[in-house]
Amino acid sequence: MPGLLLGDEAPNFEADTTQGRIRFHDFLGDSWGILFSHPRDFTPVCTTELGRAARLAPEFSKRNVKLIALSIDSVQDHLSWCKDINAYNGEQPGEKLPFPIIADKNRELAVKLGMLDPDEQDKDGMPLTARVVFVFGPDKKLKLSILYPATTGRNFDEILRVVDSLQLTAYKKVATPVDWKVRSRAKFTARHWEQALKWQPASLGGAPRLGEAAAGGSLASAGSCFCSRKSQGAGPLTHLPAKQIFPRAGSQGEPAAPAQGCLSCRNG
Ligand code: BEZ
Repeated sequence: MPGLLLGDEAPNFEADTTQGRIRFHDFLGDSWGILFSHPRDFTPVCTTELGRAARLAPEFSKRNVKLIALSIDSVQDHLSWCKDINAYNGEQPGEKLPFPIIADKNRELAVKLGMLDPDEQDKDGMPLTARVVFVFGPDKKLKLSILYPATTGRNFDEILRVVDSLQLTAYKKVATPVDWKVRSRAKFTARHWEQALKWQPASLGGAPRLGEAAAGGSLASAGSCFCSRKSQGAGPLTHLPAKQIFPRAGSQGEPAAPAQGCLSCRNG
């Protein structure tokens, strides 16, 4: 069956884009990545979405996330469309956006990645692309997918919110509750998390690498934790209310250093 499931590795496809030919894995490098698809160039909803993505590009960049769009038209069409998108954003109508757009004129990638919307068709009766959001981690595995029909525009605030949750839960063995949001979005980025975790004293096991927590070892379990919940078999995942997940930011505007002891339960 075409499509991608959580944990699947991103296919290492080659494609022409508005920023030249790419190989997807090289494009992603060590970053997080979001591949998002669009039904068609020059359509109104798509233009608003790409305009919003362009305005939010610095926010994604802060989180070490590379954006790449896909639409089933040619590079030339995409470049002309970029002018509309920039104009929609009140910018000079140039051909440059802060991320590339993949040209998938023959729908090869759209079919392979399960992106087609059977309810929306072009004048030849061919299905258009749905609005898919794939979020890949630095290990190139699919961490999240959201699938909207062509007729429903996405909420890019929600996409930023899920990136924050994915990055937090990649570094720490926690789950984020309903409607959870980073309290001060500007202050918490993937790099901040790495910095915050590096603060951990060496006696408690030092900083974890990405994926270490997900593999089962909490930070503290690498060192000297006497967490009663764990010894009572509290399970592999700890659910914390948002205020415990996010300690108050320090006076310098940096995230507060993690408490000593078990980072899952905060028991020392
Ligand atoms: C749009 O982007 O406006 C759109 C595209 C396909 C179907 C409906 C709306």
